[in-house]
Amino acid sequence: MGQYDNEIRRRRTFAIISHPDAGKTTLTEKFLLYGGAINTAGSVKGRKTQKHAVSDWMEIEKQRGISVTSSVLQFNYNGYCINLLDTPGHQDFSEDTYRTLMAADSAVMVIDGAKGVEPQTIKLFKVCVLRHIPIFTFVNKMDREINDPFSLLDEIENVLGIHTCPVTWPIGAGKTFQGVYDRQTKNITKFYAKDAGQHELATSVVPLSDLEDAEKIIGQVPAEKLREDMELLDGASEEFDQEKVTRGLQTPVFFGSALTNFGVGNFLDHFLSMTYPPMARESDEGTVTPFDDRFSAFVFKIQANMNKAHRDRIAFIRVVSGKFTAGMEVFHVQGGRNLRLTQPQQMMAEERKIIDEAYAGDIIGIFDPGIFHIGDTLVDVGEKFRFGSIPTFAPDHFARVKQTDTMKRKQFTKGIEQIALEGAVQIFKELDAGMEEIIVGAVGVLQFDVLKFRMDSEYHVEIGIDMLPYEYIRWVENPEEVDVRTIQGTSDMKRIEDLHGEPLLLFVNPWSVRMVEERNPKLKLSEFGNMEEFR
Ligand code: G4P
Repeated sequence: MGQYDNEIRRRRTFAIISHPDAGKTTLTEKFLLYGGAINTAGSVKGRKTQKHAVSDWMEIEKQRGISVTSSVLQFNYNGYCINLLDTPGHQDFSEDTYRTLMAADSAVMVIDGAKGVEPQTIKLFKVCVLRHIPIFTFVNKMDREINDPFSLLDEIENVLGIHTCPVTWPIGAGKTFQGVYDRQTKNITKFYAKDAGQHELATSVVPLSDLEDAEKIIGQVPAEKLREDMELLDGASEEFDQEKVTRGLQTPVFFGSALTNFGVGNFLDHFLSMTYPPMARESDEGTVTPFDDRFSAFVFKIQANMNKAHRDRIAFIRVVSGKFTAGMEVFHVQGGRNLRLTQPQQMMAEERKIIDEAYAGDIIGIFDPGIFHIGDTLVDVGEKFRFGSIPTFAPDHFARVKQTDTMKRKQFTKGIEQIALEGAVQIFKELDAGMEEIIVGAVGVLQFDVLKFRMDSEYHVEIGIDMLPYEYIRWVENPEEVDVRTIQGTSDMKRIEDLHGEPLLLFVNPWSVRMVEERNPKLKLSEFGNMEEFR
């Protein structure tokens, strides 16, 4: 027994993923409402700002002095301490969105019932699969007409390649929505639209020892439909399997309506019972469990402040084991130095709050005087193990970037390299070329505007950006076996290298990727970079 076991055991750390507009913000808000972290719906800022144009977004960043991009919210519910990681959507979708998933132990996927699985969900989902973390599905907007629930399950299975197991099942939808049937507790939770929204909805939970009783509660026709659906489900869908859920092979599916606050409490209760305390992590000295009394953490995100007046940077760390206390001295393994962590911060409904302590599973922001890199490990003084590095995710957008004033070569290189180190963009160059003209890759297009803005305001270099048509990047896994200069390519393929001289290929479409793989059977391509286990 470690001395912090009780605190750690009650912790759950998860991320919410969704395509924009599926209802992630609304659901987050309802979670906070349940946890008592906010008093009324509508107080989570950021929903409106997400929909602002780029220029407004910059203004918002400046005024608030803190980024509106991903944040971490902590709240208590039923004795649990929940860390909820928000993954930004819309234009501010960036590599940070992916990295956030590296700090989560499970993910909740919100799907708009009328739209099904959408592109952004697929991308984020892939990262969860890579990590083998549990994925829970919340089919939202049941108060509106939705696609047939069976087709939705098929879609999730076919598009995402994961088995589904509905835990709740909807009775009607839109105008005829009557509630959900819980297949585990065998209760019907009735939906009453009239006092929906603000607070926990008064629902009546009716135990059903036999589905025959359903008629009395929801009427004859819907009851018959429910009975049929259950027969179909019992025969066709996989049974709930905790082991498969834990390994990310089966997703428990729930139906609800975040806006009307329906199905949210039920979801939270099931979710908490189907997930475990913080995960252990691999280090170069073996597995580190959260219950290890030694403090350890890793940096998964660095956020530079856009406000010129406060040029601080915040490094977000995930505590892997032990306890963190404000002002404690830790060893920064990659920097090879001891340092004191003062002013640790936690985000609460988008506001910074200074905290005194944190435990395994928690996420905190620490002041970064420019010494941290993504993936760095912090440990108790006297220890020196390090965690595996965080992969580089494939950018989807590429542009050629050059300085307009050629006299400012040094600042240009320094600025670009610094911003790339923070992980906002990735930089590449033509094979065997210098740094005067570079190719920048970003996960979200907004990053190019951020780059231009920051190069100008922080490094006083004006840059020109020419967008390139490439959308697919592949790392060459075996450059010692295959020389990319001589492989048989396609007309739309471009050969580039990163700053370490590692070769990469850019493509306009996925067919060319396949064609190049077919033409060069020895060539091994990868969608993720830097996957080696330890740095
Ligand atoms: P996001 O964070 O995933 O982008 O989605 P967000 O929560 O902002 O929700 C997108 C829109 O969908 C919002 O409407 C929100 O009110 C609505 N919505 C969320 N959950 C439900 C639901 O269960 N049922 C219904 N009918 N609508 C839902 P909006 O008009 O774009 O914004 P607002 O004016 O309501 O703020």
